[in-house]
Amino acid sequence: MARILVLYYSSYGHIAQMADAVAEGVIGAGHECDIRHVPETAPAEVVAAAGFQPMKHDCIEGPDALADYDGIVVGTPTRYGRMTSQMASFWDQTGGLWMRGALIGKVGAAFTSTAAQHGGQETTLFSVITNLLHMGCTIVGLDYGFTEQNGVDVVRGGAPYGATTIANNDGSRQPSEVDLNGARYLGRRVAETAAKLSG
Ligand SMILES: Cc1cc2nc3c(=O)[nH]c(=O)nc-3n(C[C@H](O)[C@H](O)[C@H](O)COP(=O)(O)O)c2cc1C
Repeated sequence: MARILVLYYSSYGHIAQMADAVAEGVIGAGHECDIRHVPETAPAEVVAAAGFQPMKHDCIEGPDALADYDGIVVGTPTRYGRMTSQMASFWDQTGGLWMRGALIGKVGAAFTSTAAQHGGQETTLFSVITNLLHMGCTIVGLDYGFTEQNGVDVVRGGAPYGATTIANNDGSRQPSEVDLNGARYLGRRVAETAAKLSG
């Protein structure tokens, strides 16, 4: 059985919903999963002015906790085409893990959300994947076995590089069943791959 961490940041709840769906995929495949968010680093006045919502899961204890897992699925909203500073700040504190090679051989994957359909999802996914590759993780994407990522009949999240959702400029669009299914599929594939590699 693989042990998977879903590590995320979310200002308005879209990525938190996707994190739950990733965990559903992991657990549904018979594996263990914890969901943790990274600390909020924005000043309280910015959090209040922008209407950020509290994140509903527990906060990760610190970077060393990453070493306890066989796979790490990282979720972050898009900020100007890349990951949030909150998520980047967390990874900028993992130098000790990098020095010890503590994440080498673990499975890594990414999920994100944007306001706009073409607002930088793939570049954000790659900003996460870049960090994971530097740590020595083996990357799992959202392969085309997840057929629901194809089609232009409705707004669809999902890319070969990770699971995604689209929130709209005012945040009014919630993750659709297609988007959540992509997150579930990614969670299952990460867990199955981690079980094979760690076994
Ligand atoms: C400072 C800032 C920068 C943003 N940059 C982008 C962007 O480059 N492209 C985009 O489509 N949305 C952008 N957004 C919108 C967020 O990606 C959107 O609010 C987020 O995906 C919602 O996820 P959440 O509910 O988990 O916070 C930005 C939002 C903020 C506050």
